[in-house]
Amino acid sequence: MTTTSLETAQSPLLKVEKLSVSRSGISIIEDVCLTIDEGEFVGLVGPNGGGKTTLLLTILGILKSRKGIIEFYGQKPESKSILGKIGWVSQSAANIPSNVRITVRELVQLGTLNASNMFWRGGTDQYEQVNNAIEMAGLQDVEDRDVSQLSGGQRQRAVIARVLASKAEFILLDEPLVGVDRESRNSLLEFLDKLCHESQKTILMVSHDIAAIQQASHRMIYLEERIRYDGAAHCFPDLVDLAALRGIQSVHNQNYTENKLYQLENPGGK
Ligand SMILES: Nc1ncnc2c1ncn2[C@@H]1O[C@H](COP(=O)(O)OP(=O)(O)OP(=O)(O)O)[C@@H](O)[C@H]1O
Ligand SMILES: [Mg+2]
Repeated sequence: MTTTSLETAQSPLLKVEKLSVSRSGISIIEDVCLTIDEGEFVGLVGPNGGGKTTLLLTILGILKSRKGIIEFYGQKPESKSILGKIGWVSQSAANIPSNVRITVRELVQLGTLNASNMFWRGGTDQYEQVNNAIEMAGLQDVEDRDVSQLSGGQRQRAVIARVLASKAEFILLDEPLVGVDRESRNSLLEFLDKLCHESQKTILMVSHDIAAIQQASHRMIYLEERIRYDGAAHCFPDLVDLAALRGIQSVHNQNYTENKLYQLENPGGK
């Protein structure tokens, strides 16, 4: 069955329903339901081991779910109409070893290779894809430079440009802000936001930097085995509310806290 324009218009880009995944027999994510529409920039946050990478790998079909449904544009993930529409930048993808000598342009060229075309033919189409991706990522000035000589932010842009060259519409990014300094982080987030607004890309991005992602994404999801929050980024709960959503209780003894506060406010007092 092929995707009709009507189905595409009505179906969300991604629909995940009651998804449960186990690894080595241990339940990692339970009953996850979410939908993502075209053009959304979604931040996926949560504690270490909360299941973020597991969710991404299951969306990509690498891990099999114990139960649940995943659909792209209302189609099964293996449907032909989905081919090439999903791109992934793995956790620490930008940590390319320094002994790997590859230029930015060469790295981006790799993005145009896929299962049905494993050879760089250098046709007009391929050149255009690569030029567009380099331009979108703002890497024209460094395109002939070795990737190992780039800053952390530029390297991240380079691995994202590789995905852009593949023409993927839905881009999954696992921790792209790690090792990126503050200035580069801001411009990387602006770049990702622009991809959604101006190039109709859709982004699901994992990050530990809640403050940064809240400033850039449209929507945030907090995953810790289950989804604890899914809503507008600007309404993301504060620490106390988040603790309540995660089922974390305060361990402070009320009397002890009050005594401590009294001592701090009245040094030397009894
Ligand atoms: N191959 C594996 N076999 C068994 N358990 C695994 C495997 N890989 C990961 N896990 C476990 O699955 C849980 C979730 O891991 P996952 O990598 O999805 O978390 P995460 O939210 O991405 O964490 P981080 O923020 O540290 O990247 C962890 O408890 C982890 O130990
Ligand atoms: Mg992870």
